[in-house]
Amino acid sequence: MSIIKELNQDIKKIVEKSGYKVDNLLLQPSGRRDLGEFQLNDAMNLAKEYKKSPRIIAEDIVRELEKDGRFTNLNIAGPGFINITLTDEYLGQLLTQIYEDKSLNIDKREKRTIILDYGGANVAKALHVGHLRSANIGEALKRLATQLGYEVIGDAHLGDYGRPLGLVVLEIKKRYPELAYFDETYTGDYSEIEPPITNSDLEEIYPYASNKSKEDEAYLEEAREITFKIQNHERGYYDLWKKVVEISKKDIKQVYDMLNVNFELWLGESDAAEYLDELTEIYEKSNVLVESEGAQIIEVKEESDTFPMPPLLFKRSNGTVSYETTDLATILQRQKEINPDEIWYCVDARQGLHFDQVFRAARKVKLVEDRVGLEHIGFGTMNGKDGKPFKTRDGGVMSLKGLINLVEQETKKRINPDTVEEDMREDVAKTVAIAALKYADLLPFRGTDYIFEPEKFADLEGKTGPYLLYSTIRMKSLLAKGADLPIGEIIKFKTETEKDIALTILRLPIILNKALDSRSLNDITEYIYRLTALYNKFYAENKILTEEDKELQKSWLTLTKIVYDINMMLLDILAIKVPEKM
Ligand code: ARG
Repeated sequence: MSIIKELNQDIKKIVEKSGYKVDNLLLQPSGRRDLGEFQLNDAMNLAKEYKKSPRIIAEDIVRELEKDGRFTNLNIAGPGFINITLTDEYLGQLLTQIYEDKSLNIDKREKRTIILDYGGANVAKALHVGHLRSANIGEALKRLATQLGYEVIGDAHLGDYGRPLGLVVLEIKKRYPELAYFDETYTGDYSEIEPPITNSDLEEIYPYASNKSKEDEAYLEEAREITFKIQNHERGYYDLWKKVVEISKKDIKQVYDMLNVNFELWLGESDAAEYLDELTEIYEKSNVLVESEGAQIIEVKEESDTFPMPPLLFKRSNGTVSYETTDLATILQRQKEINPDEIWYCVDARQGLHFDQVFRAARKVKLVEDRVGLEHIGFGTMNGKDGKPFKTRDGGVMSLKGLINLVEQETKKRINPDTVEEDMREDVAKTVAIAALKYADLLPFRGTDYIFEPEKFADLEGKTGPYLLYSTIRMKSLLAKGADLPIGEIIKFKTETEKDIALTILRLPIILNKALDSRSLNDITEYIYRLTALYNKFYAENKILTEEDKELQKSWLTLTKIVYDINMMLLDILAIKVPEKM
């Protein structure tokens, strides 16, 4: 249990001793630091319950708190707000304990098994900004939840099954009709032949085929037929499709690697295909499939809906299955193979309706037990300066690699040539660019749209990734320079800034839990900025390595180490790598 939680419980007992029972006592950080470090607001509620004036209750509580010895400057403000300050000695002790054992500054939860679906990159298509947000937010949530005691299994859930693949295979057929894949008389082993296609070919082929299908009805129909063939494992087409997936997957893996994003499972939509028959049977048995113009649909509308809720398209009239249906099959697969407590989907908020439909259809036939949570963790869009979803200069969808390059051009300008050797600069600029992009992406509440501003993201000052990296590297270098000096105990404080740092450190467990509850990293990104900015103020005010008061110096180095460790832990949760120098 965290120290701050323990302190809350101690105070709860003290309040009880003074004659009052509170269920959930929570010390609040004080808004008026001149009055106290913490505020206890419970006297107001107790007044109603005990039919006494809050002021009298507050006085009773303060009398009891005064006996304790760990608190100072106890006073009552307004109608009955109790202000509490920890003695320097006690605050120092708490921090020393955290220095010795980091687990005293974290509140673990009971284990739950979560499947986190946060990839969604589409085979044969370049990753785009939406995938960036899924990956950033999802990876960080996974690391946060793991840190707090959950078991989280991340799944890439590649888009490898729908019509785009049919289009790509069709276009390959048009360009290379002589390939054995399209030769019905071919009896050899397809796994031994390689299609003459690279990943960059794929990135050109898909947009071409997609545009063509919009103008050419016959072409689209052919693509549908091929999609059907692939989904039914027809020899040749199915084999070529597998090759395309393989080629594309290699590139997708590289991009996720670059983002420091690692999936436990590399499954795709197609992996759920083996559950499609069983899924269909379940729905047929429950009589929820409705015929509609040759297609099969599921009604998911509920009485209380105040927004339009169209039926879920289960199977198209041409026999192919929809994106909704592969998601249903995937739920069945996950239930059978992993049996999780929850499934989370970190996907663009604009897919909200899709997930509403899927979850409702899943609940209808109890694809998962009622206790299993199904949750869409939606996020807003990254916009251009015009306030619209960020596009390339010619109006196309911005690829993720292109986006990273734009940030890298900015971070490159800010690498210090005096500290980073020439042959390292490229690498460092890339690491800092990813950090800049990730931090900016995780800074607003996940549901909020934000604007892509590479110059701002790369700035060495302000709420930016580079500022945090730079400051953290500086802490590390200070600790290295002071490696021979005594460390390990906080004996005293010289200024209020140090105490502010200490109090901010004590808030960490609350912040982590709040972030997990809201499924958003913004509390963490704000917190790490606040802690770092406070530390930098302290750093600027003092000469730590030459300080003559040895007790003070020891306290300062210990404080530095705690802040450094927290920064490293939080940057790791955000999946941001810290370079050696920058
Ligand atoms: N491939 C989809 C897309 O690019 C995202 C998949 C999200 N995950 C899911 N289970 N539907 O839009």
